[in-house]
Amino acid sequence: MNEFSRRDFLNLTKRVFLTASGLLGLGALARFLGYQTESSPPTEFDIGLSEAYPLGSQTFIADIPALLVHTEDGFSALSLTCTHLGCTLKKDEASLACPCHGSRFDEQGRVWQGPAKEGLPKFSVEMRGEHIIVHLL
Ligand code: FES
Repeated sequence: MNEFSRRDFLNLTKRVFLTASGLLGLGALARFLGYQTESSPPTEFDIGLSEAYPLGSQTFIADIPALLVHTEDGFSALSLTCTHLGCTLKKDEASLACPCHGSRFDEQGRVWQGPAKEGLPKFSVEMRGEHIIVHLL
């Protein structure tokens, strides 16, 4: 007669446990090998149709953040990231003001009041059909 002894039971339990551990380890290894690093942030933004930005408009583009200006010369975009420590600027009546430490910039991005020492960079703007594309690099 074939009896299932306590020893057989323990051996079977051990094999099941080792097999399950091995499968879990293989799963973790497969996941590790398939790991993808975070993709790099976008460097161009399609901000929509040009007709949404009439001549003379100054539009805050929050996703970038940038100020899109439409003049007779066309479109231009000014960074709204403070050159002091990187806070996002807010537009008031006379300037672009930093809420963090009080720097102010004029609408061409020149420093009007510190502590920021460098002006705001301009982004290149491209027309792609009727769409406006802002390039950060
Ligand atoms: Fe703008 Fe400091 S981050 S003044």
